[in-house]
Amino acid sequence: MTDTAHANTVVIFGASGDLTHRKLIPALYNLCRKRRLPENLQIVGVSRSPLSHEQFRAKLRDGAVEFTNHTFDQAAWEAFGERLFYLSADATKLEDVQRLNAFLCEREGGAANRLYYLSTAPALYAPIAANLGALQLCTEKEGWRRIVVEKPFGYDLASARALNAALRQVFAEHQIYRIDHYLGKETAQNILFLRFANSIFEPLWNRNYVEYVQITVAEQVDVGHRGEYYDQSGVLRDMFQNHLLQLLALIAMEAPASFEADAVRNETAKVLSAVRPVALEDTVRAQYEGYCQTQGVAPDSQTPTYAALRLYIDNWRWQGVPFYLRSGKAMARKTSEAIVRFRRPPHLMFNLPQGRHFESNTLSICIQPDEGLHLKIEAKVPDSYQESRTVNMSFSYRETFGENAIPEAYERLLLDALNGDASLFVRSDGIERSWQIIDPIIAGWQSAKAPPLVTYARGSWGPEAADQLLAREGHHWRQYCGS
Ligand code: BG6
Repeated sequence: MTDTAHANTVVIFGASGDLTHRKLIPALYNLCRKRRLPENLQIVGVSRSPLSHEQFRAKLRDGAVEFTNHTFDQAAWEAFGERLFYLSADATKLEDVQRLNAFLCEREGGAANRLYYLSTAPALYAPIAANLGALQLCTEKEGWRRIVVEKPFGYDLASARALNAALRQVFAEHQIYRIDHYLGKETAQNILFLRFANSIFEPLWNRNYVEYVQITVAEQVDVGHRGEYYDQSGVLRDMFQNHLLQLLALIAMEAPASFEADAVRNETAKVLSAVRPVALEDTVRAQYEGYCQTQGVAPDSQTPTYAALRLYIDNWRWQGVPFYLRSGKAMARKTSEAIVRFRRPPHLMFNLPQGRHFESNTLSICIQPDEGLHLKIEAKVPDSYQESRTVNMSFSYRETFGENAIPEAYERLLLDALNGDASLFVRSDGIERSWQIIDPIIAGWQSAKAPPLVTYARGSWGPEAADQLLAREGHHWRQYCGS
């Protein structure tokens, strides 16, 4: 639980950036409004821009108005605003971090817990951590010290290892919280509840009953003003190495013995290490039309904004079951959905009318935006002889728990980091294993054997090549979320 005996400070490095005003502050403000933050918690923003405390608060208020998922409450904001402070500093300079520490010590007035949040450009993570280490600001003699690291965590396996090593020189693993905000989404967490708080799914959750699994994370937005970052990154680094592989792990992992951080993360690491190297012919790379005209993008860029993969997990549970993963920008709409397609009944005794067939049972887990579950089953059409129709057993978060029941992912993750619960954060081995899956695909896509980079229309569901990838096995992409 949150420590109320000490003062608590959240220090956000990169406080003038996008993430702070779009996600971190709206989440902290919501937590404060719901009285979930410790009374004695303050938030100190650090970045190089010269701003007064008041200017900082005013800027963040605009973000909270725009991005909070509740009606903005001015009185609640004012109470929250009193906890916000700002220090202009270059955290890569030791003397500035020294000045920051003096500022924090003065505000804390004694022993305090500190959560350092790295929301800067990734190149600054290691130098900032080194400065914190040089000044002994990571030792836990007078309260705990934790560091939250935003994605991207590395650019490839080598850089992720180097970053892990740099952090571990200063912080112990239990102090490091690597964020993947998809793990903070309610519906992503619900995958573990669905699987392990119910007894009806788990006996079926294996190669004997599952024909294939699909995970779609489609975005309607395009690259927007992030051209420069995105062109260096591409969809595999931006979405697959982290979000899609973490979702895959939640769906495919063995049952952890407890919900303790290491029990869950051991299973994540195990299942990711069982992923077979992905064959290049099982990959599709594509770019939406007009991407190369985006500011910051090379006019002849080969960076994919869409990818589809077929992968296999070499263990007893999943041997031979294809996992299809796809994600892209500028697609028809925003939807994240995982689908488990069950095998057909072994024998069909019914005589369906000519041209009709049974659909296999399908479980759809809607991660966003219509959070819920749908189970497609076959039912007999009333008053027919033997006609069947696919019907839907549904659970909707909004209908069951209310319109505003779902918190923003960052609320949960920030609270967990303050409470010292790392179950929903990625451990170093989890990060490294996902790069081990992604790096060879990226290398293959830069080789002579790369599949062609195809284009897809904006507002579509991606290129035809992705349909063909599934058609080879008689499968096709499915999508029920929001339909
Ligand atoms: C981020 C990616 O990690 O996730 C973005 O860098 C992407 O490119 C975003 O848009 C998607 O997150 P969400 O929560 O909107 O699905």
